[in-house]
Amino acid sequence: MTQTKGHTLDDGTISDGDFARIASLVREMTGIDLQPHKRAMVAARLAKRMRATGMTSISDYCKRLEDGTAGEETKQFVTAYTTNMTRFNREEHHFDHLASEALPKLVNAAKRGARVRIWSAGCSSGEEPYGLAFHILDLCPEAPTLDLKILASDIDLEILARAKRGIYSSAGIKTLPDHQAKKYFQPVSGESDQMSVNQAARDLIAFRQLNLHGPWPFTGAFDVIICRNVAIYFDVPTQSTLWRRFAENLSTQGLLYIGHSEGLDADNARRFNTVGRGVFQVTPAHQKTAKNGTSTKLGNAV
Ligand SMILES: C[S@@+](CC[C@H](N)C(=O)[O-])C[C@H]1O[C@@H](n2cnc3c(N)ncnc32)[C@H](O)[C@@H]1O
Repeated sequence: MTQTKGHTLDDGTISDGDFARIASLVREMTGIDLQPHKRAMVAARLAKRMRATGMTSISDYCKRLEDGTAGEETKQFVTAYTTNMTRFNREEHHFDHLASEALPKLVNAAKRGARVRIWSAGCSSGEEPYGLAFHILDLCPEAPTLDLKILASDIDLEILARAKRGIYSSAGIKTLPDHQAKKYFQPVSGESDQMSVNQAARDLIAFRQLNLHGPWPFTGAFDVIICRNVAIYFDVPTQSTLWRRFAENLSTQGLLYIGHSEGLDADNARRFNTVGRGVFQVTPAHQKTAKNGTSTKLGNAV
């Protein structure tokens, strides 16, 4: 049992000081805002990490993370405090909007030779970017031969490895439209009940680790950014910074999709026009002014 100053982490309690130290580390490393009602979760996950590392002092454990000497444990710590809940076709209205409004125009632009970039930011185990890829392939089976790419990023390397693997249970793919579940998966040989995403969908996606709370390495703009159920874990100023940075990284008339429990603050509301439920189009004054920023791939109809 991991003990500290009379508290046992295993029974879900943690001292005020230790909670504050862990919350501050998590905020600094990920932007995630751990509110006091998360104390039991914080204690339980910390207990697990301390057991795994064989450390007995919370102070020593935190010190290693703080001074950058924790090595591999830094990744495990981030994994411990991220929430990866997702599923195929989550918030279906977004996929309906993409399939009927945004993607046909983008696919047509790509067919005419344009560069098209879509970003699934906070992609978790991959259901969101693969779902996007399936809709693109529905519209254009030859999409992998075009200059059309989905960047799928997450801070959590463990979940990103699962996303890259692209293998899901039969039950896990049931929320997809039937034709997509049939068309874009094949059974994994020797593993009953495991389904693997097909190569065409994989070819459309680049998986990368990226911390939304850190620097971004992009020069070109994105036509669509999907960042759903990620900012909900950040505090309001961190969310506001994120929405502004998204606006600055969208191309002309680029679209931002956010989760149903997320919203733009007043400062960012002027950067976007609402064009659907949780769908926002960047206004001309705020989009990316980079090389790629003059195209109008989405036209005026969205
Ligand atoms: C609840 S999942 C959302 C998955 C998917 N977008 C959806 O809506 O179903 C949130 C994801 O955001 C990731 N995340 C949290 N903080 C992040 C950060 N600072 N940078 C990048 N990804 C982050 C987590 O690792 C997690 O996989």
